[in-house]
Amino acid sequence: MKTYRIATIPGDGIGKEVVPAGQRVLEAIAARSNTFGFAFENFDWGGDYYRQHGAMMPADGLDALRDKDAILFGSAGDPHIPDHITLWGLRLKICQGFDQYANVRPTRILPGIDGPLKRCAPQDLDWVIVRENSEGEYAGVGGRAHQGHPIEVATDVSMMTRAGVERILRFAFRLAQTRPRKLLTVITKSNAQRHAMVMWDEIALQISQEFPDVRWDKELVDAATARMVNRPATLDTIVATNLHADILSDLAAALAGSLGIAPTANLDPERRYPSMFEPIHGSAFDIMGKGLANPVGTFWSAVMMLEHLGEDAAARQLMAVIERVTADPSLHTGDLGGSATTAQVTDAVCALLASEAAGGTAATDVKAA
Ligand code: IPM
Ligand code: MG
Repeated sequence: MKTYRIATIPGDGIGKEVVPAGQRVLEAIAARSNTFGFAFENFDWGGDYYRQHGAMMPADGLDALRDKDAILFGSAGDPHIPDHITLWGLRLKICQGFDQYANVRPTRILPGIDGPLKRCAPQDLDWVIVRENSEGEYAGVGGRAHQGHPIEVATDVSMMTRAGVERILRFAFRLAQTRPRKLLTVITKSNAQRHAMVMWDEIALQISQEFPDVRWDKELVDAATARMVNRPATLDTIVATNLHADILSDLAAALAGSLGIAPTANLDPERRYPSMFEPIHGSAFDIMGKGLANPVGTFWSAVMMLEHLGEDAAARQLMAVIERVTADPSLHTGDLGGSATTAQVTDAVCALLASEAAGGTAATDVKAA
């Protein structure tokens, strides 16, 4: 029996509600299995930790995570702490510290979910956005000088390396190759950003030669927003820089019905370090502590975690159960126009997992008899 060591980091806001819900669901899926289980370790890092210790996580925090098989993360963000401190002090510290350079964001319109697009059938929107997660606009390169003076200056330099661009484009082509349509759209802005994005385009062409069976095209990021709305079925796998994909993935999640559903994997594809799985939504202070958060984004992230761990059957089973739950409007949380609570949705998922396990056992018993 394999035991996966999982770090849970709820972080701030509704992260403290959805991560325990995700842990319950992972425990329920493990209870059905006689080949794997989980050992969870919880880390109370985030805004409260910052108030006590002056940092979002301990200086040697990465060492505490290093030997885990995966990390389940909630969100980082606190109304009383500047956003760039909460972001750089925790989530980016882990993503960049563990070189989780591939951020993967699948988007689909799940059963029972009513997306905002009038002319879009559910099967027309089935995308995976691959976000460069280690450099680009989030490289942290830049600075400020002459602070407080009229000549004050500030720069944020988007830094792209050939190695960084090659590895993310290769990852995206490889992912596109595993999907039925083998179709990749490379997002660019090389008309205006005439250095790094031109190199990005050149490298896309170069890497494409390694994948002759993948059809691919290029789209400017602004035009991509219109294409996502007007011609969603023309897209499948999408790869973009850190900031471009950040923006496109919020649009994608909204077009699929709610930010509350969308999952993310921050992957180190080389598996030198643990990868991190998290819902894409933020800390949502407006509803935190009320038990109203949609846990589906975390559950879908747990599916991605199971896939990463190689537990494909369990991943498929959990996804099927999630889709049975979203199909039932009485189990929709407020973001989907319903009134279900986090606990009700979590209970429903756990109950289905338990009953399917019982059903499986019964069937085996009958066969044996
Ligand atoms: C995301 C989020 C973060 C980002 C925020 C919380 C800084 O929007 O994961 O997409 O921009 O990377
Ligand atoms: Mg974002």
